[in-house]
Amino acid sequence: MSDDDDKTTHFGFQTVPEADKAGRVHGVFSSVASRYDVMNDLMSAGVHRLWKDAMMDWLAPRSGQRLLDVAGGTGDIAFRFLSRAPGAEAVVLDLTEAMLTEGRKRAAAARLADRLDWTVGDAMALPFADGSFDVYTIAFGIRNVTRPADALAEAFRVLRPGGRLMVLEFSQLPVPMAQRLYDAYSFNVIPAMGRIVTGDRDSYQYLVESIRRFPDQETFAGMIRTAGFDRVKYRNLSMGIAALHSGWKI
Ligand SMILES: C[S@@+](CC[C@H](N)C(=O)[O-])C[C@H]1O[C@@H](n2cnc3c(N)ncnc32)[C@H](O)[C@@H]1O
Repeated sequence: MSDDDDKTTHFGFQTVPEADKAGRVHGVFSSVASRYDVMNDLMSAGVHRLWKDAMMDWLAPRSGQRLLDVAGGTGDIAFRFLSRAPGAEAVVLDLTEAMLTEGRKRAAAARLADRLDWTVGDAMALPFADGSFDVYTIAFGIRNVTRPADALAEAFRVLRPGGRLMVLEFSQLPVPMAQRLYDAYSFNVIPAMGRIVTGDRDSYQYLVESIRRFPDQETFAGMIRTAGFDRVKYRNLSMGIAALHSGWKI
């Protein structure tokens, strides 16, 4: 048995072998794919749309840019990017084919399909050449990745010099009382809602647990710097329920 076989990581609040995590995450998103978009609206009362719009406001997409949206799921980030930059192109990469299948249907309806490619792949081993994108985004994806540091290293590799990384992820509320209220909502309401809407309580239990396991804003900013990015900054959204992190490959 190699050392790699012994390594463990977390899957929500469970400790699991590293080798098992991607399969479990794939199981979660395969199970919820067809109801994923409606659940996002219900759980956040539509606020995830405002967070994704805030991501675009800070990113300021430009015509001619080539975007890689990793863990892009059903395409929310890529669609927003392309809508704001008519001459841009995007690749959406995701571990879970069922999420991309939902995304492809939406792209056809939104008449964006000709500027989009969809690829099944792993954020930790991107099937793209060095320096091949202007912008790398990952929204609510990186906390699901087995080794986030490896995903950030891959983001750095595939960006061209001058390229930009932007991460949207759940984060930590700096006010303990607000965090307690938010936890009460998350742990009591979201898994129950997941059971009613998708028939899958466990996947939404994983969701709320994985949020609590993800590093706080400063720690995650440090991880982005360690991957080689410069001018790393973050902005809290909804008091820190989520955060945007930005970095540049100089
Ligand atoms: C919560 S969804 C986010 C989808 C979309 N970015 C959004 O904001 O609506 C998380 C996505 O991450 C994908 N994912 C998880 N681990 C991944 C990995 N290692 N590489 C690529 N995608 C991954 C899942 O399949 C899922 O589609």
